Amino acid sequence: MEPRKRVLSGIQPTGHIHYGNYFGAVKNWVKLQEDYDCVYCVVDYHAMTMPYNPKKLVENTWDLIFNLLAVGVRPEYLCIQSLIPEHTELCWIMNCFTSYGLLTRMTQFKDKSSQSQEANGEGFVSAGLFDYPVLQAADILIYRADFVPIGKDQEQHLELTRNIAQRFNNQVGKEYFVLPAPLYTEALKVRSTADPERKMSKSLGPKHHINVFEEESRLRKQVRSAVTDTGDTPAGEMSPGVENLFLLLKASGKAEAHDSLMEDYKAGSLQYVSLKEAVADALAEQSNGFRARKAELMANKKEIKEQIRASTVEIRKLAQETVRDVKELTGLLNVRF
Ligand code: TRP
Repeated sequence: MEPRKRVLSGIQPTGHIHYGNYFGAVKNWVKLQEDYDCVYCVVDYHAMTMPYNPKKLVENTWDLIFNLLAVGVRPEYLCIQSLIPEHTELCWIMNCFTSYGLLTRMTQFKDKSSQSQEANGEGFVSAGLFDYPVLQAADILIYRADFVPIGKDQEQHLELTRNIAQRFNNQVGKEYFVLPAPLYTEALKVRSTADPERKMSKSLGPKHHINVFEEESRLRKQVRSAVTDTGDTPAGEMSPGVENLFLLLKASGKAEAHDSLMEDYKAGSLQYVSLKEAVADALAEQSNGFRARKAELMANKKEIKEQIRASTVEIRKLAQETVRDVKELTGLLNVRF
């Protein structure tokens, strides 16, 4: 049998997961585990590129690990970036194969550097933020990943990764790195229920995202107060708020309820309360399951942490192998451990 292709993805440790993250990315990670060898990395080094709280970094990292496990990510596929120092070692080497000109054209840097400046109030933008895409390239190349599941916002970073890999291969005269391909899967854009003009996001404030572990009464309240129709939508078009509720229903696997409510909508007889109720039921069912699973995991906190440390050690072996090869190919002193 052909070995399974490898998928790599990274996620920043910002603590909890909301339905925008879940339907937009994480649910897909869980699905990909069926067909691919996966490495899902909690990228704490990336989290240091913006102003952050050192006391919270480790806490957020473990929180995210438990949250990912609770929604179905397998422990053997999870690792923590800073426990695999080879990522930063490869990042340095890859820096020397990265075009400075290309790096200055990264749009995410432009967005984030203005955010960083505002957050500090002192105009500080770290060189780490500038170099962020090269560390991301190292994350991907170090496992010689075939595919990276991405949305539009990461396209440019993956293109840069391919450029770095290609340059490396040309320079060392060997097709060493696989050029990783994007895996475009159905990435759903969930909007804020409080302001459906905007993406569901943590940074907008508590009303603008629904935690996947939310307890039922609060979750229902949030859905009940969702903005439906502000009267600004042109006649004959569905308002973004209503569209968002239909999307949540469909994403939750409630196709039947979705279709029948859609019939009502088309007939002009849809009552928004019924739509909201159906969405609240669907989300509550999922959240209740996630919460129960998380409680089980939290009851075995120590064992779970050990398990993640062990899988990180296992995954690290692959990274060590790559760095060994890369050192050989680039003419560095290569000590075999
Ligand atoms: N930059 C990614 C994001 O913000 C996170 C990330 C870091 C990543 N390393 C990665 C994503 C490697 C995919 C592959 O979403």
